[in-house]
Amino acid sequence: MTWPSAGVRSTELLANHTSFRIGGPAEWFAEPHGLDELLGLLREANRQGILVSVIGGGTNLLVADRGVRGLVISLRRGRPFRLVEVLSQEGEPQVRVRCGSAVYTQQLVTLGGCHGWGGVDLLAGLPGQIGGAMVMNAQNIGQRVERIRVVSWAGSVQELTRDQLAFAYRYTRLPPGIVVDATLRFERADPTATVARIQHVLQHRNATQEVTLPSAGCAFKNPPGESAGRLIDRAGLKGARIGDARISPRHANFLVNLGRATCDDVLSLMDYVQRRVVRATGILLEPEVRLLGERW
Ligand code: EPU
Repeated sequence: MTWPSAGVRSTELLANHTSFRIGGPAEWFAEPHGLDELLGLLREANRQGILVSVIGGGTNLLVADRGVRGLVISLRRGRPFRLVEVLSQEGEPQVRVRCGSAVYTQQLVTLGGCHGWGGVDLLAGLPGQIGGAMVMNAQNIGQRVERIRVVSWAGSVQELTRDQLAFAYRYTRLPPGIVVDATLRFERADPTATVARIQHVLQHRNATQEVTLPSAGCAFKNPPGESAGRLIDRAGLKGARIGDARISPRHANFLVNLGRATCDDVLSLMDYVQRRVVRATGILLEPEVRLLGERW
């Protein structure tokens, strides 16, 4: 197998790319430096019928212990994918910002605090990168989105405006492919007040969520009008453990890796949670974490 880019390597351990610290190797792994290199990789993989996956901040991802077949792409080394550009002029009522998809959401929050981008506090403490936040509509980031650029698996670039994206809870209607950047809008606000709001959100998160042990954030989506964390807690499951995967005693929707958890440990624990909660409440919790790799 020859790739157009010299940077493609084999057997990259994906545990090093996920906040869960779980996951086997990628058959092929590439970190393109820019859009042209990304398009070259996608076209080559498409020509050869090779499956392609993308990994962002890896903060909502559970990767199979046996790893992932095909080519796994990360944009984190590409300068254009890490750029934040302010598109609006001084004096315009709104700030328009184009963000590469490998920009960490917390970098954007820090910038937004310094410059007074009102509404950026919505994203305070949200782990991961902008690309993943777009795909998941994390923290309802969609309400700030003007447009998103996506590269299809076949290697063509498409731009979608907000009316085409149909944002909903943990959902964005995107065509199959890789998000390369997004343009967001914020109100102009006082930087000191913006920083204070960010601090407030961070304090709340630190007080209520599991922030020390490796996890993928909330494991299950909230059912309509309910909190998955509360349902799991009420079922008496805090602290339950399978292998090295454990339900956080702090927030019951966080499944943590105590050190050597495998993907199978986490899946078994998720399955156990679903069965117990359905038995107690009749509600089947839907996973929020995305599964990637051989088992499925
Ligand atoms: N609760 C319990 N026991 C628990 C956890 C929560 O009784 O173990 C109760 C809380 O006391 C509160 C209610 O459940 O009354 C809601 O809890 P919380 O405020 O922590 O919010 P959440 O619904 O659990 C959601 C998102 C989080 C996001 C927070 C804050 C989902 C699945 N989770 O959590 O997102 O950070 O709101 O905006 O939508 C994530 O998606 O990974 C994530 C962490």
